[in-house]
Amino acid sequence: MHDATGFRVTVSSADPWQVETELLVIPLFEQEPLPFRDLEEATGGEIARALASSEFKAKLFELFVTPAQGRTWRARRIAVAGAGAEKDFTTDRARKLATATAIAARQRRVDRIAYVHRGPGDPVAVGQAVAEGFVLAAFNPGEYKTEDRDFAPARTLEFVASGAATAGLAKAIERGRLLAECSNLSRRLCNEPGSSLPPRLFAERAAEIASVGGVTVEILDEQRIAELGMGLLLGVARGSHEKPRVIIMTHEPPGAPPSPVLGLVGKGITFDTGGISIKPADGMERMKDDMSGGAAVACAMRAIGLLGAPIRVVGVVPSSENMPGGAAIKPGDVLRGASGKTVEVLNTDAEGRLILGDALWYARQLGATHLVDVATLTGACVVALGKITTGLFGTPDAWVQVVREVADKAGDRAWPMPVFEEYKEQLKSDIADLANVGGRPAGAITAALFLKEFTGGLPWVHLDIAGTAWAEEAKPFMPKGPTGVAARTLAELAFTSDRWRF
Ligand code: BES
Ligand code: MN
Ligand code: ZN
Repeated sequence: MHDATGFRVTVSSADPWQVETELLVIPLFEQEPLPFRDLEEATGGEIARALASSEFKAKLFELFVTPAQGRTWRARRIAVAGAGAEKDFTTDRARKLATATAIAARQRRVDRIAYVHRGPGDPVAVGQAVAEGFVLAAFNPGEYKTEDRDFAPARTLEFVASGAATAGLAKAIERGRLLAECSNLSRRLCNEPGSSLPPRLFAERAAEIASVGGVTVEILDEQRIAELGMGLLLGVARGSHEKPRVIIMTHEPPGAPPSPVLGLVGKGITFDTGGISIKPADGMERMKDDMSGGAAVACAMRAIGLLGAPIRVVGVVPSSENMPGGAAIKPGDVLRGASGKTVEVLNTDAEGRLILGDALWYARQLGATHLVDVATLTGACVVALGKITTGLFGTPDAWVQVVREVADKAGDRAWPMPVFEEYKEQLKSDIADLANVGGRPAGAITAALFLKEFTGGLPWVHLDIAGTAWAEEAKPFMPKGPTGVAARTLAELAFTSDRWRF
């Protein structure tokens, strides 16, 4: 097993032909003539031949690898990496291209690669993204395989920005390395089978991950949870022998202003059977990743600590199993949360919003002024946005916009959905303050509006990652399995407080 550390990322201002490496990655755009003098000679005409025969057309993520042989080029092999149309090239494409080429390098048993910066984009932003992409390629989704033990990702990246290597670029690359390591830690937690990671162990692992760079961690057990009156979380936990936990992570850098305080809240259901409103057997194994939001928060807290975010941040991760044990809550039961609000549980499978209700309330008690929650919350969000885009909900619009821009830069795509008050009608209960489900129409929106009831009117954003936390099919830049979505977004958000004017 490889742990997530041990990468070396450097920058170079050399010209590509001067770079001594095992595999020199050169992005090439469609319809573009071969760049760099002597590249044709260095590859014995192989690239030109492949282009002429259409074996290689520089389509996005297409890869053509050939030995370098000229005396002027010092790399052992050259990989021309299809970068698609130049006008469509973005920093996110650079990140994905770096992952795709690093995965290809791993399959070729290459340890050291160099990536040549080409095309549009600020080298500092692209450099960070390429370092991220490179490290993301090292995630091993097959951790429990006993054969095929030789998963050996590339460990050394040289980012070649000819003439543009600066101290700022070196810092950005190190930041990218660290952020992607945090993404991979999050993916590893999400990949863990439910029974290997009940709330007690999830809390321990999260504490281990987040206890760095001055971040302090406290784990609330079922007794403390009861003392705080978190009846929503306790209600969900009743169906399991495994006791709930709440993980509290605090980043309080010396000299940080008293406000703002960023409150990060993540859903930590370590397995979701649906409870008494039990899910169909088909595909239920996927519900081991129902703690993806919680993992993203814990891993973001690690990055926030190590990178030294300038503001106070508090992370709250409520964790429970959702099981149909003999003591489980039943449809129609009424629960009272720590905020005092009562909830009629019409469907025990809408458990995420219950535990998040208590956690959002607690984040406010801990002084949060700006809230963001992340949760694999609704199948309805997958219906609405598919597997590509995270659902983005919240208020005010300016706060939603900040999160959206940060997510975009971090490579987590998110798109705003409405939270009009009118939808709240659907959450009316005959017996209690709220029902926990609002019917099939607008299911992702009514879930968000349920959460909003616990935010006390603070600026709040909800990220529904039900579709984006897990990749169902492999892509050149993403193997099947956990994606690590939102970890980098949450971490980067803690560095944008100068833009929070609400
Ligand atoms: N964890 C699920 C949501 C989910 C579904 C995540 C599919 C990833 C993929 C959540 O707890 C849930 O079961 N939601 C219900 C809510 C419904 C009962 C209102 C759903 O979406 O079906
Ligand atoms: Mn559920
Ligand atoms: Zn769930």
